[in-house]
Amino acid sequence: MGKECIVIHGNGTLCGEVKIAGAKNSALKLMAASILGCGESIIKNVPDISDIKLMSEVLSRLGATVRREDHELAIDTTDVDSFSTPYELVSKMRASISVLGPLIGRFGQARVAMPGGCQIGARKIDMHLVSLQALGVQFDVDHGTLIATTPHGLHGAQVMLEFPSVGATENMLMAAVVAEGSTLIENAAREPEIVDLCDMLCQMGARIEGAGESNIEVEGVALSDLGPCVHTTVGDRIEAGTFLAGGALTGGPVTVQRIDPSYLRMSVLKMRAMGCDVTTGEDYLTVMRTGPLKPTDIQTLPHPGFPTDLQAQFMLLATLADGISVITENVFENRFMFASELMRMGADITLEDHHAIIRGVEGLQGAPVSSTDLRAGAALVLAGIVAEGYTTVYDIKHIDRGYEDYAGKLRSLGADVVRQAVD
Ligand code: EPZ
Repeated sequence: MGKECIVIHGNGTLCGEVKIAGAKNSALKLMAASILGCGESIIKNVPDISDIKLMSEVLSRLGATVRREDHELAIDTTDVDSFSTPYELVSKMRASISVLGPLIGRFGQARVAMPGGCQIGARKIDMHLVSLQALGVQFDVDHGTLIATTPHGLHGAQVMLEFPSVGATENMLMAAVVAEGSTLIENAAREPEIVDLCDMLCQMGARIEGAGESNIEVEGVALSDLGPCVHTTVGDRIEAGTFLAGGALTGGPVTVQRIDPSYLRMSVLKMRAMGCDVTTGEDYLTVMRTGPLKPTDIQTLPHPGFPTDLQAQFMLLATLADGISVITENVFENRFMFASELMRMGADITLEDHHAIIRGVEGLQGAPVSSTDLRAGAALVLAGIVAEGYTTVYDIKHIDRGYEDYAGKLRSLGADVVRQAVD
């Protein structure tokens, strides 16, 4: 398929209900975890996005068979006989590094290409390596490939992460579940996707306490005690937050369905601070706004702090607020490129290191812009919906990595948005 772009005619409309897909940042790790259970696991509520296709390719390359039926994946890892993940796959998707822990757990060894950085930062994996070394893993690097071995097997350990890294917590968990003895992870990531992974690992036979807390305890079991399972992926809180930001932007009302509202407490707090009415039910949230957007300050932090993956969407809200907002990006070192694109549409933003000072403007003008990462791309499309005239968003392959039928869902809410080939 040739390059495509998304063209938006600013009609200021987003109103209605949208079903939220399964969480990309959980499903990818659930797929990796299936390596530990020799047999066929079924993972439900898997989003139809390009990153899932790439992870399916990674698993197939390892010897698994992956079948997709609608939003369900059947992954049979019986015949997984390789523990190597090549550069051409890891370079396409950094999340491939999530197979490191389960491969070590299953085979006692792994060969995974070192992931590169990306637009938003260096994306180092030093914490992954230090934590796994504490469990007895030895690492060498051979021409860009990480060689992991466990000459004396995997043993439990007490490990404190210097930062609650999502990826490091996940890789650590997927090795610790079959380590000899118990493991304590201190300062672990607390994201809902961590809880989802622990739920699936426990369904497979693992013994984990404290998922979602800073301290997680794992009692290692034998690999043969782990088996396949059927697991449903939690809803995607970042997709939900993206559509809620759209409703806050246009006034809505927009309802996001099939999502646990407790995943978005900080985002809801900030939307209310910006003048929105937000109501929640068991598995939905509704946002609307009648008055002007108010400025607010935001610090992105590990969960339950404000999610970095909603930073761009809320910078857009701040751009149209009555006053000055300050957004501080504490998680990634280079996640303000979106600001430069938004300024092409008339935003007034000053960048000072990790801080963005946003002065509200009356309105935005449509313009040609480029996605720098998937969340910035999604936010640029939202900007086009409230901008005067036409906006064309290029490099939408970033958006396709994490949003299923984004243009279609926006159209169902009344937006004038189409995908078309780049001429
Ligand atoms: C996950 O990335 C998500 N990706 C990211 O979502 C999300 O922004 C991030 O968690 C934070 O919530 C997936 O789950 C596939 P980290 P991850 O390890 O695991 C540094 C999106 O838009 N760090 O918590 O890579 C790292 O460089 C994506 O869906 C080290 O320095 O996040 C970053 O600055 C973007 N050394 C910070 O910590 C390490 O060993 C947070 O990284 C590990 C991380």
